[in-house]
Amino acid sequence: MNKKVSWGVLGMGVMGLNLSRNFADQGISLALYNRFMKGSEEQVALKKIKTYPELNSALPFESLDLFVAAIESPRKILIMLPAGPIIDKIIDDIIPLLDEKDILIDGGNSHYNDTGKRFLSLAKKGIRFLGIGISGGKIGALKGPSLMVGGDRKAYHIVSKDLLKIAAKNINGKPCCGYLGSGGAGHYVKMVHNGIEYAEMQLIAEIFEICLPHADSNLESIQNLFKSWQNSSSESYLLGISSEILSYKQAGEPYINRILDQASNKGTGAWVTASGALAGSPNNLMTAALHARFTSSFQSLRKKNSIEYPSLASNNVTLPNLKKTYDICRWINHHQGFEMIQQAKDTYKWNLSLENIALIWSEGSIIKSKLMNQLKLLFPDANSVMEMSPFKKLVSKGQKEWMDVLIYSIGKGIPTPCISSAWNYFKAITQARSSAYLIQAQRDFFGSHGFNLIDQKEEGKNHGPWA
Ligand code: 3PG
Repeated sequence: MNKKVSWGVLGMGVMGLNLSRNFADQGISLALYNRFMKGSEEQVALKKIKTYPELNSALPFESLDLFVAAIESPRKILIMLPAGPIIDKIIDDIIPLLDEKDILIDGGNSHYNDTGKRFLSLAKKGIRFLGIGISGGKIGALKGPSLMVGGDRKAYHIVSKDLLKIAAKNINGKPCCGYLGSGGAGHYVKMVHNGIEYAEMQLIAEIFEICLPHADSNLESIQNLFKSWQNSSSESYLLGISSEILSYKQAGEPYINRILDQASNKGTGAWVTASGALAGSPNNLMTAALHARFTSSFQSLRKKNSIEYPSLASNNVTLPNLKKTYDICRWINHHQGFEMIQQAKDTYKWNLSLENIALIWSEGSIIKSKLMNQLKLLFPDANSVMEMSPFKKLVSKGQKEWMDVLIYSIGKGIPTPCISSAWNYFKAITQARSSAYLIQAQRDFFGSHGFNLIDQKEEGKNHGPWA
């Protein structure tokens, strides 16, 4: 009988393949499984093993039972498939082949509620389940991803030795991997990560659009602006790739000018928007970023409307400096993301340390940045991002510029969903008396919903003279 391998990886898409290559680079023995589909997916695992020398000792499979039988006990099986019903299908297929205490891991972008349900139903069958949010894209998977783990704590202790090996390491050599709580904790944190990512991307796109009318035709000036910001505290992976993207040309023209202006999404932006709304946690930057993608998808309507409703543009505004605005909005975006996590910590009783999450996101992830490293250092002494003194300093120095950017973009008719959402949130959260008393009066007027009075000590239902 052949010696059994340490891990099984199920699904040889780009993430499954690159994680397997990363495991193999760390000397971890593997069984690789990909389904057989006549004509389209035949001998996929075998072909990958032949293509990538680091996989040459891995075992290829197209039969689920032989794949499972090749793995040592307790089995560690990483499922790398798209989120959705396909995960339930593969779990149903594999359960009869497993033994108690085997460990199943979903490394895809599953909804945290689905992961929570799977965790409970598998626990009843004696199978240990982990849901791992994996960030870093295909390069991160290969060179070191950021790993957000939730589910069975005992299972984490068994797999952590290997996960810590394949994870990215931060500037101090610490692995960007951690156990965050039971059920869907890992996938919840990954969902918030994606929300922050959406707004980070949208903020860069808005700055780009503000600069566009002033840019030279090859976009070099915007690329240089982004490059100069990369040498400052604004540095981030997403800004870096945006600068690089602008450098690509075809026939002397910027390549990006060829790309259709319709942004897609795979669902996590909608989940985080809905989760924020259901939890009552304001996350209007990520929501605005998602809606900006939705609006972009109405491409032919936008074209038609642009003729019907021509933009009014003022000549009385001058392009302000943009950097402080960009920085303030990023801090606010991160503030909202970490607030969602803080709230989930109380709601779900998960072991969510903001410092630890900033560490996990500080390398390997798509939202890695100097800011994330800074937050990691500041969290032990602060309960929220808005409490941190660098943020306070930034606002006191940059608020005027931020106003000028908004005035400029309104004057020029440039939409800035994230920059203005950040402004509206910041203004609202720093306003001593909001307009909500009128909302309460309206609710009471038409629905007798009641309200508290300013000097009232305990909750109570008061009604206005209109009752
Ligand atoms: C992902 O998690 O797959 C990516 O971060 C991007 O998600 P999107 O396709 O929704 O932008």
